[in-house]
Amino acid sequence: MNNGTNFVPGLEGIVAAETRLSHVDGLAGELIIGGFALAELAANATFEETTYLLWHGRLPIAAELTTFQQALAALRPLPTATLTLLHAVAAENAPVMDALRIGAGTLSLGVDEGQLAPAIVARFPTIVAAYWRFLQGQEPLPPRADLNHAANYLYMLTGETPSDARVRGLETYLNTVIDHGLNASTFAARVIIATNSDLVSAITGAVGALKGPLHGGAPGPALDTVFEIGTPAKAETVLRAKLEAGERLMGFGHRVYKVRDPRAEVLSVAAKKMFAADGDMALYELAKAVETTAVSLLAEYKPGRNLQTNVEFYTALLLHGLGLETALFTPTFAVSRAAGWLAHCFEQQQYGRLIRPQSTYIGDAGRTWLPLEAR
Ligand code: ACO
Repeated sequence: MNNGTNFVPGLEGIVAAETRLSHVDGLAGELIIGGFALAELAANATFEETTYLLWHGRLPIAAELTTFQQALAALRPLPTATLTLLHAVAAENAPVMDALRIGAGTLSLGVDEGQLAPAIVARFPTIVAAYWRFLQGQEPLPPRADLNHAANYLYMLTGETPSDARVRGLETYLNTVIDHGLNASTFAARVIIATNSDLVSAITGAVGALKGPLHGGAPGPALDTVFEIGTPAKAETVLRAKLEAGERLMGFGHRVYKVRDPRAEVLSVAAKKMFAADGDMALYELAKAVETTAVSLLAEYKPGRNLQTNVEFYTALLLHGLGLETALFTPTFAVSRAAGWLAHCFEQQQYGRLIRPQSTYIGDAGRTWLPLEAR
């Protein structure tokens, strides 16, 4: 029964929010975050500064930043109930994103309502790292208040104080993926908070949306291809064989970007710096060769499609260079995006309008009720 409105599958092209947080221009290949071009912000800001920018609409001055950093650091430790739960989940060997979803739901415990947002940002890394160590049969490491958000996350995962180059690499990644228009998980968070529900509910729903391979769950395969190729000389043979077999090249193509994803550029520069200072430069060079060959073969096999490198390709390389296993890639995405989800929740709360689209009924009508024994 068509009620006269248009059905747009996937809501493509439908504007469902106004936002001051980020702007994605897929044709120009531009991403603006909090008024800054991505490259300008990502490589310079700490994650705390970018979070403050999104939550307050401007960069903090020094005293504000110190207060914010200290507040986040104080909120990092998890309630005992959360740790006990994560320990039990690890015994089931559940994926890290499942553990994050389960842990996220406990984040309202022992926190005043006014502290919920910083507690969520502060505790996401602690949940991921604690769960990761439980999975390895280790005890979680207590967070260190003397390290910033990114450095403490790496410390809690590895037990080592990370080099400045690694911290800068992770910070650039976290800044790069903190927000990206009205993506699926952000939309999910806005839908939940628009019912006047609470921040923890909104963020828990968003984790569920991010987990899916069509959204945040696909960076691992891009790295697998690089390792499978192994040496630049083999790039063309391996990639051509995949395309001949009708396979997709992982880390290339995007629904919105029809030119190189600006996040790929920022992460490629960050990976180069990090690998040069503290990593395996041969792997970086191999990835570069794979990228160049892939883009040229995609133009040959899919002319006119404008298939370019997407964010996942260099995400995988950068996070691998930081020593993170593939299973931690999407949870690390969530560690960053949580701050963006919360910023969208604040915007939605100010807007104050329930999100309630319509559906077109395509089922039967006029059925006659039959008692159970007569069906
Ligand atoms: N390798 C080979 N061919 C491709 C690729 C690719 N990576 N991406 C698209 N194509 C081809 C398709 O086969 C199709 O060709 P055809 O018309 O001859 O059948 C054409 O390009 C258009 O493809 P669509 O699926 O319509 O493009 P869409 O915009 O829906 O896809 C997507 C975007 C899903 C990202 C796609 O490019 C893809 O599968 N890439 C590989 C997986 C990947 O890297 N995912 C991470 C994306 S980044 C992110 O979402 C955060």
